[in-house]
Amino acid sequence: MNDTAADLRFVPLEADDVPTVDAWLRLTTESAEDVPLSAAPHCAADLTGSVRFAPPDTSLAGEVAFLGGQAVGALRLVLPDGAPVAVVDQLLTAPKERRQGIGTALFRRARSLAAEHGRTLLVADVVQALPGGPVRDEGPAAFAAALGATVSDGPEGVHQWLDLDRHDPSAGGVPEVPAGYRLQRWGTVTPDAFAIAVSELGQSLGASPPETWGEGPDAVRTSHVRRYERMRVGRGRRAYHVGAVHEATGELAGFTSASKTTGNPEHLLQGMTVVAAAHRGHGLGLVLKLANLAHVREYEPRVRLIETANADDNRPMIALNEAMGFVPQERFVSWEAPVAPAV
Ligand code: ACO
Repeated sequence: MNDTAADLRFVPLEADDVPTVDAWLRLTTESAEDVPLSAAPHCAADLTGSVRFAPPDTSLAGEVAFLGGQAVGALRLVLPDGAPVAVVDQLLTAPKERRQGIGTALFRRARSLAAEHGRTLLVADVVQALPGGPVRDEGPAAFAAALGATVSDGPEGVHQWLDLDRHDPSAGGVPEVPAGYRLQRWGTVTPDAFAIAVSELGQSLGASPPETWGEGPDAVRTSHVRRYERMRVGRGRRAYHVGAVHEATGELAGFTSASKTTGNPEHLLQGMTVVAAAHRGHGLGLVLKLANLAHVREYEPRVRLIETANADDNRPMIALNEAMGFVPQERFVSWEAPVAPAV
């Protein structure tokens, strides 16, 4: 280990330790690279909220690396309940301090923390340039490879952006709603009547078999969407939704979700769009997305740049996004490394 790495002091990143959270926030914000259409600028409310509020069914572990009194690196792991993996959500060295072994020391801490939580595999998404696309830093992939991580068969896909100043897919209005359906808007908090349906539809896209939550006030209170909203609100995010209701049955046939941070008036994240299998083939996906874009713009007139991400195997959604004017900007690739390295 070189001198710099040997002198590091690691402090847990915990929501009630305000000086450490502040130092981490400064480091994260000041280290952000100004790469157009790569990531929205950091929002302080979103970042500080993210330390206290984990996504549903996960917990967080993090550390800040100090050199003297200065925060020079940070590490954050997301620990999904009951899974053998630790997801590396952040592994960052301050730009001026790179190539001195700090990243390697953080990676070792990641392994130790993951082991303490009973995990056997570290996984991470690493951003890479698209062939012929905008330039992206090749450092992170080189770093991961140098530390023995390998590309895994986990999800790979594309980050896409839509610049409304260049192309406004809603300029011609929202397409007609297919016969037999009506649209329903809601904001950050899902109406009780849809909380179970939204939770079940959302989970139907995951790798594990969809859960069912039953019915009634307790089921609504503990539903996935209610727990997700707690995190969103805790991070100061506002969300906008449009759902399609099947008029004959009153069922929620599908919905789309977009959200934004407090600090970025121009940026929107296009989140999940899902249409239940029984209701596919009517063009509901595009109707939902365009109707929700109109919804967002009524409340957030400064929104101009919309980001979204799709796994490669979700060809229908990538095609729909391209039809709306989204442009692929970079790839994300899954990497993995065993928590206990081979000796
Ligand atoms: N180009 C090529 N190789 C690199 C680079 C680079 N830019 N950066 C690191 N490496 C490789 C080298 O082999 C290096 O050893 P060397 O300096 O003796 O040649 C080795 O990785 C170890 O480098 P460290 O000094 O320990 O790492 P550093 O403190 O520079 O941090 C990091 C690397 C974390 C990728 C930093 O550039 C960074 O913060 N980038 C932005 C955040 C990021 O993308 N993190 C994702 C990391 S990937 C992951 O989490 C699995």
